[in-house]
This record gives sequence, C-alpha cells and structure tokens, in this order.
Amino acid sequence: MADIESLVRKNIVSLAPYSSARDEFSSREGVFMDANENPYGSLNRYPDPYQRELKAAISKIKGIDESNIFLGNGSDEIIDLCFRIFCSPGVDSILTFTPTYGMYEVSASVNDVEVIRLPLNENFQINMSSVSKLLAVKKPKLIFICSPNNPTGNCINNDDIEILIKSFSGIVLIDEAYIDFSQKPSFRNLIGKYQNLIVMQTFSKAIGLAAVRIGMAFTNERIIKYFNKIKPPYNISDVNQKAALKILLKRGENRRQIDTIIHERDRMIARISRMKITEKIFPTDANFILVRVSDANSIYKFLINKNIIVRNRNSVVENCLRITVGTRAENDKLIMALNSFGR
Ligand SMILES: Cc1ncc(COP(=O)(O)O)c(C=O)c1O
Repeated sequence: MADIESLVRKNIVSLAPYSSARDEFSSREGVFMDANENPYGSLNRYPDPYQRELKAAISKIKGIDESNIFLGNGSDEIIDLCFRIFCSPGVDSILTFTPTYGMYEVSASVNDVEVIRLPLNENFQINMSSVSKLLAVKKPKLIFICSPNNPTGNCINNDDIEILIKSFSGIVLIDEAYIDFSQKPSFRNLIGKYQNLIVMQTFSKAIGLAAVRIGMAFTNERIIKYFNKIKPPYNISDVNQKAALKILLKRGENRRQIDTIIHERDRMIARISRMKITEKIFPTDANFILVRVSDANSIYKFLINKNIIVRNRNSVVENCLRITVGTRAENDKLIMALNSFGR
C-alpha cells in the first residue's frame, strides 16, 4: 500500500484550508463577535463545523473513536470529496463494479475522472481474476465497493473485499449504506488494520433521516485530516445535527422499525415470487428487492398509473424493477396492484 500523502492530489496536500471563526473557539459560551452573525434569534449562530456532539454519540454506538469519523452532507458529499482529495481531473481513474450506485459515476464525471467498469458476475459478485488482470495494467486511484450493493441488494463476498483492500495500492471505499439491514459485519472495524480503507454509512436508510442529509465516513486520521481540509466549513446545519442527535436517542424504536422492514421484505418476497409476472427475485441484504419480471417497462408504467412508484432498472439489469420495502399497507397496495396486472 502506497503512502497516503502520495495518493492525495498535490494541490490538496499544499492547500491552506479556510479557517472559520468557530475553528478557533469551540465553546458555546461567550460573547460572539467574530462571525458577523445577527446577535438575535435561536438559529442565528453558525453550527459546530466539526459536529463534536453528534460524533461523540456516533462514536459510542459504532465503537469508533471520534477522531476516525467524518460527517458529510449525505454520503453523496463524501463521495465527491473523495474525488477531490485523490483524483486529478483529466488524469486519474476509479474502478467500479457494475451495476452499482449511480453517484460514483456522476461524481466522477463532474470531476472529469475516468470510470473503469468491471461487470459483476451472474451472482452479482466481483470477478476476482478480471480485477487482478485489470490492476496489472491500469492504476485507478480509488475502488468503490457497494455492499450491500444498490441496485442488486446482495452483499459482496467479504473475503474478496479484504483481498482487494490488502492487494490494492490505492484507496478502497466501501459503501455500506444498507448494512443495518444485513446480518454481515461492517468493515468499519478494519480501519485500524488497513490504512487505505474508507467505510461509508448513512443516516438516510435504516436510521430514517434521508431528509436530514448526513453521511458518515470511518477511516484513519490522515484521511480524516484531508476531508476536514477541503469540506465546506459548515457542511452540516445545526438543525440537522440536532435532528440526528435526537434520533440516536431513540435507538430501540429504530431497531424495531428495521426488524419490521426486514419482516415485510421477506413477506413481499414470498408474495411476489408466486406471481406469474415474476421470473426471479435476487437475494437481498437491503431494504429493497430486485425483481426480474416479464416486462419491466410495461409493469413500471402500469404501477405509475396507479400512483405506485418503483424504480425501473431495466436499463442496467434487464427487465428488473427495484422495489423499496414500504409500510405494511403500502406493500399490500403494491402486491394487490401487481396481482391485477394483465387482468
Ligand atoms: C449505495 C448508496 N450509497 C449512498 C447513497 C446516498 O446516501 P446519502 O443519502 O447519505 O447521500 C445511496 C442512496 O440511494 C445509496 O444507494
């Protein structure tokens, strides 16, 4: 594994970051005349740029030191920051395993970074011999591994992931947005072992705070330093930090929601697998199912006409619809609608 500094863009290594007023004084008590705020009101002050209270709460739950946590305005901001730290526009490349989450590719395009795509095999697993052949000739800066993967739903084989982390000379980012719906262990406990590992999770899925836009990156302090160096100073609003803290206090309630979602997912699989339109339901470790149907485009339109919106993934996995698990009532509506298709 190469030295982290040698992987970081030279202009980022030498960058002098913006120093905000609240960088220099972190206490909440005092007479604040440093940031040109309005002195009146309850939301008049800039938020904590390092989200210390929220990180302390996350640290306890995840068993990760606060110094190894970075918070982004959603995982999508963290993905973009990774490009800006490690990839020189027009020069560097990244490796993805397709089909996968679309933002890796969008962020790559925004940053003018080449995307090398290796298709997952028929079980949606990484073809390890293709990877080693490719890495013998190409030198991507970053490898994105989404596990559980979107849109396929399955986890990528953990042994394969670890082989890649060990053997790759660049950065491996594991996107665990859906990990709380899976029985598989998170890779976050390996950030001390592998210096080139970034593990990403989010408040948007199992935790139920998609509106609040908070993504988490767990990694070593050297990489955290670069995230902090280039992020917008106040990237997580005070309102959002408080909303996230509040939900972390209701952990029991959230666990029950997750159990219900998993139960509903299994019920949907059982019901949909019996339908005539269903050709295959792929194994899932997430809060959605990928279903191969007789004709994805027409079933998608049929559902839209009934005000039921699923994701048509026909363009990435032939004749497949990705269906997010809803409430029991919503799932029943979908099941009823699918049962009436073609009648
Ligand atoms: C795999 C994956 N990663 C990240 C995200 C985005 O997460 P966030 O809402 O934290 O930006 C999504 C959203 O669908 C996703 O599917």
